[in-house]
Amino acid sequence: MKRIHCRRMAAFGLMAVLAATADAAQAPIPQLAGKDGRYALLVDGKPFTMLGVQAHNSSNYPAALDKVWAAAKDAHANTVEIPVAWEQLEPDEGRFDFSFVDTLVAQARQNKMRLVLLWFGTWKNTGPQYTPEWVKFDNRRFPRMVDREGKGIYCLSPFGEQTLQADKKAFVALMAHLKKIDAAQRTVIMVQVENEVGTYGTVRDFGAKAEAAFRQPVPPAILARKKAPVPGAASGTWAEVYGPYADEYFHAYAVASYIEALAKAGRAVYDLPMYVNNALRDPIEPMAPWKGNFASGGPTFDVIDIYKAAAPHIDIAAPDVYSPESSKVGATLSLFQRPDNALLVPEMGNAAGYARYVYQILGRGAIGVAPFGIDYADYSNYPLGSKLKDKAMAEPFGRIYAAFRPMQGQWAQWALDGRTFGIAEAEDRKPQTIDANGWKITASFREWQFGTANNGDRPPGTESPNGGAALAQVAANEFVVIGQNIRLAFEGAGANAGKPSMYARVEEGHFDNAGKWVMERNWNGDQTDYGINFTANPTVLKIRLGTY
Ligand code: DGJ
Repeated sequence: MKRIHCRRMAAFGLMAVLAATADAAQAPIPQLAGKDGRYALLVDGKPFTMLGVQAHNSSNYPAALDKVWAAAKDAHANTVEIPVAWEQLEPDEGRFDFSFVDTLVAQARQNKMRLVLLWFGTWKNTGPQYTPEWVKFDNRRFPRMVDREGKGIYCLSPFGEQTLQADKKAFVALMAHLKKIDAAQRTVIMVQVENEVGTYGTVRDFGAKAEAAFRQPVPPAILARKKAPVPGAASGTWAEVYGPYADEYFHAYAVASYIEALAKAGRAVYDLPMYVNNALRDPIEPMAPWKGNFASGGPTFDVIDIYKAAAPHIDIAAPDVYSPESSKVGATLSLFQRPDNALLVPEMGNAAGYARYVYQILGRGAIGVAPFGIDYADYSNYPLGSKLKDKAMAEPFGRIYAAFRPMQGQWAQWALDGRTFGIAEAEDRKPQTIDANGWKITASFREWQFGTANNGDRPPGTESPNGGAALAQVAANEFVVIGQNIRLAFEGAGANAGKPSMYARVEEGHFDNAGKWVMERNWNGDQTDYGINFTANPTVLKIRLGTY
């Protein structure tokens, strides 16, 4: 722990240490640890890779849970992300019903799963559909936003003071209840505050309160962090500083400030890591002011700095990955993985083509990933996700998670140490390279295991891109590699450049429960003569090389 800077330890110092000593029966609270701009989620005090799945939106009722656990198990997940809705927690104002949360936590323990709770409150995919009825239809007390033309719209206003107070009260009640039922076991490891916030159809709130705030100077904390994309005043109103971007940035500030109020109050009661998720803006198109093309005010990559400044109790702005093109996935991951923002992919399409991105995401050092809708509820969210609703839908993720799972703890530590790399096959099927320390690794796709013949006859099952690998450089000349449908070739680079090299050992095996490597066999001869060829079955190898 010494080498790791923990946000919570820094914040509470001795008090936290004393509290932990006084209550030795409790497992350490989950927290995010950072080192040199990389991160690990600590669960029970140890680095943890979240091999997650997310349940369908309406699976937040006891009767729906059997189908969630069944799918999560088939996916070999260690964590289930699942909503807790304001409408179910506080159906009548001031009357709280924790029965679903109690059932959920108890069943998660029986099923040996961790939980990430998704607080569906004021905003769920920007709308108020998960608020209780006493909120939904009382627009005087809980005002909706007003568009530029002065017309009320669907989305609740971030300037609704009573909305904020009411949402905060319910959220704090949830956190207090979690502390009561889960502080000893820490089944719940993270909380998502709201869901895909922002607003479609209008760039910001034009109601009276919002207008007054828009004319105020930009707060210094925002100015210090968010630079204007076009030259503007160094300080002044939002319009003066941010010009054509002012409306979007102001809305991001308003929404982030609202979320901060919830997160701050909730963490004061029970200090779990918290994050927000994002319905992405296009990561590739040239930067331009909002033109109706994404939910304004959400934590899109261009306003992460605003969220960091306005919502310091939110650890992570996290991308929901639903554009399957590899160029967009890669760009999104690069934009969200920053020294001040741990990479977490809390949602990803559950179609088979997304499975290869697990390698890229975990290889980049993400703290976790979760395909959406891995749940045997009778519902498919095709074309966003898979057409399938049964075991075949969970299987492509399950095979990868099963191989990762025995080493998930080591993997999280290697990621924190900056030793990991990830690759996913692109649509052009072209080779890609990884520059590791002293080694260049070339990945190619659609190769046979034997030989280099390439007569147009390709291995079955490779018709669409599904190859990938994640590598951890565990020592100067040693890699732990997990992959599928990929060929890897190693050559000396950096200090090893120009030196001939060969494999010392290519051990196939697994890590046992104690984290010890168990060798099953050593690959040699045909199995290494044409590179390291992974088939469709995810396999773990420990590769040691040498130069001569
Ligand atoms: C993203 C949202 O965050 C999820 O709750 C869900 O609505 C998916 N989109 C679509 O299935």
